[in-house]
Amino acid sequence: MISESPQFHRLAERSGEQLVITVDNRDVAVRQGDLIITAVLLHQKAIRRFEFGDGFRAGYCLMAACQDCWVSLGDGRRVRACDTIVEPGMEVRTGIFNANGKTENC
Ligand code: FES
Repeated sequence: MISESPQFHRLAERSGEQLVITVDNRDVAVRQGDLIITAVLLHQKAIRRFEFGDGFRAGYCLMAACQDCWVSLGDGRRVRACDTIVEPGMEVRTGIFNANGKTENC
């Protein structure tokens, strides 16, 4: 089971229009210009499941080098969360939570 507490905390509020995106079918408030990894980890502990065993990943390098933050988008794209800026109405799928908002097989 993954902790529901966030991995990131904003140290300062930033300007920018507030947007709403969905992360695993849950509405998430973000700021225009936020990276996807910021948007996700301000609300949960991880960005994806670990493909080689039990556990979760939260990115590593945060600079588009390690490939540890790939997520799927509702439009079919797969992107690195650490170098993709949020867009209004974006649907991010981490694969961590099912349709009921629960984790499975953890
Ligand atoms: S966290 Fe390393 S590529 Fe995104």
